[in-house]
Amino acid sequence: MAADRGSRWIRWPSEPERGRIGYGADYNPEQWPREVWDEDVRAMRHAGVNIVSLAIFSWARLQPGPDRWTFGWLDEVMDLLHANGIAVDLATATASPPPWLTTLHPEILPVDREGRTLGPGARQHWRPTSPVFREHALRLVRAMAERYGSHPALAAWHVSNELGCHNVHDYSDDAATAFRAWLRDRYAGVGELNRAWSTAFWSQTYGAWEEVLPPRLAASYPNPAQQLDFRRFSSDALADHLRAERRVLAEVTPGVPVTTNFMVMGETKGMDYRSWTAEVDFVSNDHYVQTGPRARDELSFSANLTGWLAGGDPWFLMEHSTSAVNWRPVNTAKRPGDLARDSLTHVAHGADAVCFFQWRQSAGGAEKYHSAMVPHAGTDSEVFRSAAELGATLEALAPVAGTRRRRARAAIVFDWQSWWASELDSHPTSLLRYRQEALDWYSAFLDAGVRTDVIGPEGPFGEYDLVVAPVLHVVPASLAERLRRFVDGGGHLVTTYFSGIVDENDQVWLGGYPGALRDLLGIRIEEFGPLLDGETVGLDLGVSGSLWTDRIDVTGADVKVVAAYTSGDHAGRPAVTTRLAGTGSASYVSTRLGPEGLAPVLARFLETSGVGPELAGVPAGAVELAIRTGADAEYWFLLNRTGASVEVGGLTGEVLQAPSLAAGLTLAPRQVAVVRRPHVTGR
Ligand code: GLA
Repeated sequence: MAADRGSRWIRWPSEPERGRIGYGADYNPEQWPREVWDEDVRAMRHAGVNIVSLAIFSWARLQPGPDRWTFGWLDEVMDLLHANGIAVDLATATASPPPWLTTLHPEILPVDREGRTLGPGARQHWRPTSPVFREHALRLVRAMAERYGSHPALAAWHVSNELGCHNVHDYSDDAATAFRAWLRDRYAGVGELNRAWSTAFWSQTYGAWEEVLPPRLAASYPNPAQQLDFRRFSSDALADHLRAERRVLAEVTPGVPVTTNFMVMGETKGMDYRSWTAEVDFVSNDHYVQTGPRARDELSFSANLTGWLAGGDPWFLMEHSTSAVNWRPVNTAKRPGDLARDSLTHVAHGADAVCFFQWRQSAGGAEKYHSAMVPHAGTDSEVFRSAAELGATLEALAPVAGTRRRRARAAIVFDWQSWWASELDSHPTSLLRYRQEALDWYSAFLDAGVRTDVIGPEGPFGEYDLVVAPVLHVVPASLAERLRRFVDGGGHLVTTYFSGIVDENDQVWLGGYPGALRDLLGIRIEEFGPLLDGETVGLDLGVSGSLWTDRIDVTGADVKVVAAYTSGDHAGRPAVTTRLAGTGSASYVSTRLGPEGLAPVLARFLETSGVGPELAGVPAGAVELAIRTGADAEYWFLLNRTGASVEVGGLTGEVLQAPSLAAGLTLAPRQVAVVRRPHVTGR
């Protein structure tokens, strides 16, 4: 039985008796002749597809001129899908403006940092702050809402598409005007802006709002606080577009839930989604597997963070790929088993719908080499058979629908503000990668077989025993205070190099690093010691550090040196410290260790905090565990992280899925099993 939902979810045309996991893809029938549509719905039914996202890039087809509307084809598609029991996540269709609009109004085109206007001819070529674009987009939204608001296939509204994918940083005059308005809201006057931006430096003092501009290409480094505010503003400007579309939808179709697809993945960093969640009825995300040996750790990390954004409620995986993408230098196909494993990792972390880009692989256009559920080879293909098998698996997992993620005992803090600020130019090093450090910790937890949640700086810290905040660079006074209370309350905090350094205005906390966290950690650093590319230093734990070191002075009582440097400028001095504070502790790691190097360090922190693996009987790190919990039962997702078979011993419960699972819970390479277990009260 599905648990009560805290927020709204897709409105299924007919509510099934038990829960249902959504399954489908972006569907772009306008790329195909009419006869293909019938074939499409037949194959969709065969594959277990129950929902598709429609009309995402259909603006030109729906409105071929300023006052011409051609809805007939979409009416037919909506009816056809409905007649076949397939629900529709209907786009507002505003993602990509048609040629007539950019011809009539070239002033909607975005402008890059160097002042170059981006041309039409690809997609998403619009300024988030253009009043002209907004007016045309909202007109289309209203037309869509009025036409399809009461269509029985309509399950949810899909605002635009991947807002900010190509146009997050626009430096146009519209952006300048909107930036100034945003700043006037944030600062009481130009004087306050001058203080916040430290404009006494380099003769930047503003005398009037009109003088303030976006950080366009300049003779040297643009003001860093201005850059940080511009990032905040750019994220907010897109959220404002989302809000504007949502308002129209809420007015015309108040009963229909609204979502938009986030991009929590890889280095996509322009949007601080924490402030977007209030604008959607349920969270949706797009994720494409990254490259490298730890790519699946990144997938899990992104799904985990999306689960936090969704507040623990189910969320919608709006896009991922059945196999290769087309936008990397080299686009490799997925291996057998990857399609199911990737999808089920998202479900493990709270996805109640699993969709792909796209249903049928295009024959022409820029994405013709991007995989789909129906590849160029047709339905007689490995990819389609795997997709249909996944459809059956998701059907068997129906009882999981509506359940919530069970909180872990350890958490990793992920903060967009620190991401933006720590990677600004004119810093001690340009080699620092914020998200990579967070990912390294996540991998270290996975390798240790310990479940962890990825959470924002809002916490709730108090719900965890161990909180790791890597490169928590921006620490406003209020955050420092919450971290202090967490430690005083018996929590175990770990942070790293370049943390606690600046406040929300990118102004350094004076008196020695790590500024806002100095007393909590009981250490003081006078100078940073970044390492050259390729340079490493040894630690007496037998591991080596790269990227960064600090010359640490221990200042607090009860500070233990957990590890010391054995080479480099700081040989013999502390590299990792822990300050014991009552039953809690505050620890500092001053160098980049990578997942393997973090293993012995994390082991110490796990021991101090008493946090450990929940899955007995498997080699540490071989299996990722994620738990979803419902009113009647828990669902343990066991994800084989290795390329070998893994036997999971001593776990009782009913195996819900994994058709080829050998007796005694032996997971084939990369296989996922879902085990229903009696409900355990607690977290
Ligand atoms: C994004 C877009 C899709 C498609 C895919 C390809 O996620 O939303 O329209 O371009 O990328 O990976």
